[in-house]
Amino acid sequence: MYYPDDLIEEIRIRSDIVDIISGYVKLQKQGSSYFGLCPFHNEKSPSFSVSPGKQMYYCFGCGEGGNVFTFLMRYENDTFPEAVSILAQRAGVELPEVEYTAEEKKNNDLKAMILQVNKEAAKFFFHQLKSGSDKSGYEYFKGRGLTDETMVKFGLGYSLKYSDSLYRYLKEKGYNDEVLKETGLIKYSEKGVYDAFWNRVMYPIMDNNNRVIGFGGRVLGDGKPKYINSQETKVFDKSRNLYGLNFARITRRPDFIICEGYMDVIALHQAGFNNAVAALGTAFTSQHAALIKRYTDNVLLTFDSDGAGVKAALRAIPILRNAGLSIKVINMKPYKDPDEFIKNLGTDEFEKRIDTAENAFLYEIRMLQKEYDIKDPDGRTRFYNETAKKLLAFSDEIERNVYLDSVCDEFMIPKESMEKLVYKQSLTYSGEKNEVLQTDSERINKESLKDEGMKQSQKILLTWLIEDDRIYPKIADIISENDFIDSFYHKVAEMLFEQLRTGNLNPAGILSRFESEEEQRKAAGLFHASLSGNMSPQEKEKALNETIQKVKKNSLDYAGRNASDVNTLQWIIKEQARLQNMHVLLD
Ligand code: GTP
Ligand code: MN
Repeated sequence: MYYPDDLIEEIRIRSDIVDIISGYVKLQKQGSSYFGLCPFHNEKSPSFSVSPGKQMYYCFGCGEGGNVFTFLMRYENDTFPEAVSILAQRAGVELPEVEYTAEEKKNNDLKAMILQVNKEAAKFFFHQLKSGSDKSGYEYFKGRGLTDETMVKFGLGYSLKYSDSLYRYLKEKGYNDEVLKETGLIKYSEKGVYDAFWNRVMYPIMDNNNRVIGFGGRVLGDGKPKYINSQETKVFDKSRNLYGLNFARITRRPDFIICEGYMDVIALHQAGFNNAVAALGTAFTSQHAALIKRYTDNVLLTFDSDGAGVKAALRAIPILRNAGLSIKVINMKPYKDPDEFIKNLGTDEFEKRIDTAENAFLYEIRMLQKEYDIKDPDGRTRFYNETAKKLLAFSDEIERNVYLDSVCDEFMIPKESMEKLVYKQSLTYSGEKNEVLQTDSERINKESLKDEGMKQSQKILLTWLIEDDRIYPKIADIISENDFIDSFYHKVAEMLFEQLRTGNLNPAGILSRFESEEEQRKAAGLFHASLSGNMSPQEKEKALNETIQKVKKNSLDYAGRNASDVNTLQWIIKEQARLQNMHVLLD
């Protein structure tokens, strides 16, 4: 699917962003912008802004931002072509008929067919649960404490004892085998054709638009395997979906609860914890973590309290931490999982466990401690050393010290010993023995900091160029798009400089040229960061000049490293000299 850029631009221009977003969020005018409660994270005072001038939105709370297209993509979970087509229709812009290649068309048709069959199957299973003559599925769920309302909400179902009843039903409906095979619901083998799920209670898995993308099925008794999950298909990617996310995404609670199983999610939602999600019978991935980070900054883990559950939690914690989430672990003892806990102790008790949930780092150390015999001096030493290593993973000095304090308090470790150990470990980390700790974390991160710093200056300069139109003419003979050496900022710079050269500054237009949501988000952040708000004109001029120097110096260094002929090197030296004498005056 590919629409020409100017068509996309026309649709965007005809779709006023304030108009569109007002349909979803209550907005109030404040100065030149509109403000409202952010639909992408939970907040009490409005930090979600919509700018009619820029035709973009941005949340100062969660950093979510973009143009009309990205808004629909994020809010409705539409794909880019879907958002384009919705807005085109609304704006009365006709889209060209067949823009699909034959291959794409086949693929899209197949996806639509799979979704249709899934929905058909979910209806069939649901019907069997509630109205079929075999009540075993319904009795099973009743026995596990689920209400009728919950069964309807989650669309729970039952697959019959016969191994081909779904197949026969779907064939009667006229679906052909080629499609059925792609759904994974029907298995084709030398021995014959049979249903993937039979004699199981069924959990349809839904995406954010409540479309059924796959199923989980559980045996009614103790048989093995306990659960079967749909294979991945053209519409089902396990690491991009979480069970329960279609409900949890609109929770008003401040965090997400991550648990292990279907039944845990369902039991939690039934008890009013509508922020529970689970990975779908696979290990937790960084994609799952990134998905969660779109909705919240805080997660609570309720993995099973058995050995496997602890192992899974210890694996998930660093992944969640890397995504920038703040993590706590709920203690469910003496029960195995949240489902059993709530059934036995009820909602209020679970709420209390949420309030007393343990910081994930302390949890990690507590689990670590179990591996050592700390009554034994040797064991204790090794435990302390491992703890010191884990502390060192915090590159931020302040954060590390906060954790050092609480770990020492919690595990009754003498603070001085731990400080010394961390110091000692830090030396072996860096391989140099004569620098003080203060600079150590800096050294560990030096390379990545430098890289980040470079990117940061490129980012700031781009933001400035968008924010203040006096700047471009003054720097046009010093800086060009080629000085932006980070590949993403380079792409933005190419488009932006083109617009600046022709005098058509239009940031929202740049956004729609990025295909991935991630890049659109990043670009949107760029166009919204207000930099010079509190600066005096002198400060601003100084900061601008420093930024230009940094960006240009980097770019010349980079060119120097890659230069292979004398002419280029001479040119670089000349440019470096010119840079030293350069100063941009703002007024
Ligand atoms: P109940 O016994 O129904 O309460 O299940 P549970 O949700 O407590 O499941 P459990 O803790 O045993 O497993 C957690 C999750 O792992 C399940 O919800 C499934 O997604 C998955 N799982 C469990 N058993 C199997 C299995 O045999 N095969 C597969 N593929 N996944 C499983
Ligand atoms: Mn369970």
